[in-house]
Amino acid sequence: MANAQHKPSGHERIETNNFLMIVLITLVVAVGGLVEIVPLFFQHSTTKPIEGVKPYPALQLAGRDIYIREGCYVCHSQMVRPFHAETLRYGPYSVAGEFVYDHPFQWGSKRTGPDLARVGGRYSDEWHRIHLINPRDLVPESNMPAYPWLERRTVDAESLPAKMQALRKLGVPYTDEEIAKAVEEVQGKTELEALIAYLQGLGTARSWDKLAKEPAQTAAAPAEPSPAPTTTQ
Ligand code: HEC
Repeated sequence: MANAQHKPSGHERIETNNFLMIVLITLVVAVGGLVEIVPLFFQHSTTKPIEGVKPYPALQLAGRDIYIREGCYVCHSQMVRPFHAETLRYGPYSVAGEFVYDHPFQWGSKRTGPDLARVGGRYSDEWHRIHLINPRDLVPESNMPAYPWLERRTVDAESLPAKMQALRKLGVPYTDEEIAKAVEEVQGKTELEALIAYLQGLGTARSWDKLAKEPAQTAAAPAEPSPAPTTTQ
């Protein structure tokens, strides 16, 4: 085939030229990536909050900063994945519209402890208080660290208005009134109270009860137990 006269053309030219091949593959992957990623910045399902998702009230926002400061995300994810075992254990899988006011989001990936995306309302405030001060008082085998200082420290209320203003620049619709009242609302509260307020708000906008009231196409009904496998492998 390859004699001196043979001039490769079309595909053969690309396939026999390393450099050209690399350039073209890069181009295809880049364009393909943009086509997949760019629409996500504009779709309503990823940019609009689902019903019931509101900007964090001042106390929860303060608690969220404590969650980040203490590195809770190192052991806890906040994303229920769309798998049967996950939805059975934690509740409805997470959707993008639950996180539009999260800057930065706390999805995480490490699960030394359980996922916390739907922990809101699962336990009483008192349970969280005892658990955060010393997890082993409630779960003897727990390897979660104790956070006893949270009860002794008060929230830095003065810094909240500036944080809320910064979040507003990122698109979180805080009103002037909410920002003006923030210091007063949070003043004197302990870090423990703030963190618990944050935990109790997590994931409550989406639950099996709420989904059951929605029209069928948007409601992912509680998954039925999967049918028994017909073949054993
Ligand atoms: C070293 C890993 C680790 C860190 C860091 C950690 N946790 Fe945990 N957490 C766990 C483990 C393991 C469990 C399960 C045992 C238990 O309940 O104590 C758990 C359980 C929990 C639970 C109960 C969840 C449920 O559904 O039963 C909550 C709430 C919680 N952690 C909150 C926090 C918060 C808030 C922080 C940060 C202040 C934090 N954790 C930091 C490991 C960790």
